[in-house]
Amino acid sequence: MTQPQNPETYNRMNIRIIGICVAAALGGFLFGFDTAVINGAVDAMTETFDLTPALKGFAVSSALLGCATGAWFAGPLANRLGRVPVMLIAAGLFLASSIGSGLAFGVTDLIIWRVIGGLGVGAASVIAPAYIAEVSPARIRGRLASLQQLAIVTGIFAALLSDAFLANVAGGSMEELWFGQQAWRWMFIAEAIPAIVYGVAAMRLPESPRFLVAKGRIAEATKVLQVYTGVIDVRDRIAAIERSLQADHRMSLKDLRGSRYGLKPVVWVGILLSVFQQFVGINVIFYYSTTLWRSVGFDEGDALTITVITSITNIVVTIIAIALVDRIGRRPLLLVGSAGMFLSLSTMAIAFSNATLVVNVDGTTSADLQGFWATTALIAANAFVVFFGVSWGPVVWVLLGEIFPNFIRAGALAVAAAAQWLANFAISTSFPTFSEIGLTFAYGFYAFFALLSFLFVYTKVPETKGRELEDMTDDMRVKQA
Ligand code: GLC
Repeated sequence: MTQPQNPETYNRMNIRIIGICVAAALGGFLFGFDTAVINGAVDAMTETFDLTPALKGFAVSSALLGCATGAWFAGPLANRLGRVPVMLIAAGLFLASSIGSGLAFGVTDLIIWRVIGGLGVGAASVIAPAYIAEVSPARIRGRLASLQQLAIVTGIFAALLSDAFLANVAGGSMEELWFGQQAWRWMFIAEAIPAIVYGVAAMRLPESPRFLVAKGRIAEATKVLQVYTGVIDVRDRIAAIERSLQADHRMSLKDLRGSRYGLKPVVWVGILLSVFQQFVGINVIFYYSTTLWRSVGFDEGDALTITVITSITNIVVTIIAIALVDRIGRRPLLLVGSAGMFLSLSTMAIAFSNATLVVNVDGTTSADLQGFWATTALIAANAFVVFFGVSWGPVVWVLLGEIFPNFIRAGALAVAAAAQWLANFAISTSFPTFSEIGLTFAYGFYAFFALLSFLFVYTKVPETKGRELEDMTDDMRVKQA
């Protein structure tokens, strides 16, 4: 491997790389913001448009279908146009969606604008990990790729905060704020600010050297590598990238096919990582938190406060994961996370088996926990967020950026991320039905998947810590030969 000319240049280069990775990870911030912003707006929106429960549910979850579609198309687009143009498209979609949703006339166009925002979230969820993995030096790639999750959880936190702030200023989310628009509309419009910041930042990013090499733009790739690694002679790196791309120059979704299981084994690993990340039920905690905290005895105001505290916890543990991911590796983090999630989810299932059922005014039932079991459920739910946040939250995004060989990365990541959004949709739309069956059933189901996720990582997930993307590509060739 070519060494940097001197350590000082090397450190300066690292700061540049960190800068471009932070800019790319802003897509994650919008991802988090967009998926969480609806929390504070949903009740007022329901009242304004007089929505039935089914329409309300669809208005919330329809964006996730947009996310799956956006993720799916981001791969082929990133291969054709480049990584940076896809970021610009995503920024444009965010901007349009925030203003469109904020000014929506009725539920139909609101849903359309939410789906458009979803397309942006889906695209950003694919492009940030791909780009970050492609521009990062192997030694710190895990840390840089974890910035994506840090940005997601910060985005969730910022949306909750912005919702609470706007509702407070207006004296309620239904009340009018500036220009005669209700507060809930401003909650959506607020997203225009990060969308513009993201777009402007993306315009200044260099294109990924791996994409440039794939397009035969060697001179440009050389320049980017020189500027961002501090190494003058980058011929070795370019040659390694060329080698890793050689077999397939067309790069299409067809390249994901494998002979034995329909898709290449590594593509299945990506899809399953995504599905497990969602099937442990993390977003049930984030999307339905108010219901959860109310069932353990808090009133609505306190429930919101706990949700905010949970999202801060999530930020803190993500920072811990960033410190650990390149030191102890991806596999140990995932294994500890799965074990911890299994224990905390099982504890929640047991706690809720001691709940009493309360019949609400609208005929639906909800669980009510008291005393010891309420405290136990509260601690277990937070422990679950801690175990997820330090492991499956960030590490799945890190692995999705790096496990695929260069010649299929964008396409494979798109398929894995689309699977993740569909899994997210399935889990979040089924939760109300699951909780009617019983919360013990719901948390037992998630606990079961946490257990399976442990076995899956133990047997199928490779360690990628410290390895060059090109070396992993070579490994795959040997295995497939
Ligand atoms: C991961 C998941 C996302 C979830 C978040 C919560 O990024 O992909 O669905 O909302 O973690 O921390």
